[in-house]
Amino acid sequence: MDERIGTVDLAGEYAEVGSEVEAAVLGVLRSRTYVLGPECEAFEAELAGFVGADFAVGAASGTDALVLALRAVGVEPGSEVVTTPFTFFATAEAILLAGARPVFADIEAHGFNLDPAALDAAINERTRAIVPVHLFGACADLDAIGALAAARSVPLVEDAAQAIGATRGGRRAGSVGAAAAFSFYPSKNLSTAGDGGAVTTCDSEVAERVRLLGNHGSRERDHHLLAGTTSRLDALQAAILRVKLRHLPRWNQARREVAAGYSERLAGLDGVELPCVAADETPVWHQYAVRCRPSAQRAAVCKALEEAGVEWRHFYPRPAYRQPGLGEARLPAGACPEAERACDEVICLPIHPRLGSDELDRVADAVRRAATG
Ligand SMILES: Cc1ncc(COP(=O)(O)O)c(C=O)c1O
Repeated sequence: MDERIGTVDLAGEYAEVGSEVEAAVLGVLRSRTYVLGPECEAFEAELAGFVGADFAVGAASGTDALVLALRAVGVEPGSEVVTTPFTFFATAEAILLAGARPVFADIEAHGFNLDPAALDAAINERTRAIVPVHLFGACADLDAIGALAAARSVPLVEDAAQAIGATRGGRRAGSVGAAAAFSFYPSKNLSTAGDGGAVTTCDSEVAERVRLLGNHGSRERDHHLLAGTTSRLDALQAAILRVKLRHLPRWNQARREVAAGYSERLAGLDGVELPCVAADETPVWHQYAVRCRPSAQRAAVCKALEEAGVEWRHFYPRPAYRQPGLGEARLPAGACPEAERACDEVICLPIHPRLGSDELDRVADAVRRAATG
């Protein structure tokens, strides 16, 4: 039996850049500066440059980056924040952690991101922020959502956890909103050897507030201007990220080629809807997500992938508003029909920069076998 095809490839990545990473880690260990310091500052400057934002501030995780960004743009207990239900739970969780109530607007019928019309209907006088998620590495409709946010004077906090390097309408994920949050969890396109995150912004006051909130409200020792938390990026993680950031453009390009390879091989299959890409966007393919229509076909595709030794993921089996952890913000089934349909239909196929054409053939053959029954 052929080797199993995995959804991520940390071993391959390590084989490629492990020696550079080890040298960087050793440098930090020998420097004995483990929290903040020059590696973090250098990474923040390089990340801001890559994203096209004026500032980047490291955080301990993507979830923390979202919470800090929300608090920094003025989200307070009692306010509402509108977001998408078709996302990783952390998006909604961060809104709760910032003390606000998550309000859910439905997604588009064909893509996986917020539908601007549904978003418009969900905004009211209690709305203190809008959180579009650039899901699977494809930007939400930044022009339409940005225009809505501006018209209603509500800050936009982009959840760019999955979308580092993605563009739409010539703008990069993380450079459009009042603030944006990135995650460097090991499965992400740019990853640490642990947890890590960052906020990007073009507003110096937001950057300063994020920095304060993540460091106990303190700029100088024993002087605390506000009640924050401990959420900084470790120097070790920053050093690793600096190495990998240099390779990211090439890795994102390789993902685009893999995605094109899937789209070519799977074109025209009955009942398998391929990811749709707007003319003005360049996704970074954190996931390659297909929809099985009707959703009854999903089980057959998963079974065929299993039999072919191909790993797959179900991102996401239920909308965030159906998660028990949401407490009072939970909504009944049927609240956002398009998001629920996506939950029933979606399968994420393996994608990483080193996926070869033989592996692509194997995955695509399995999907085709199931689709043509
Ligand atoms: C869309 C989205 N938002 C937020 C997060 C949270 O990031 P982290 O796991 O680094 O806390 C993730 C990470 O999985 C994510 O995919």
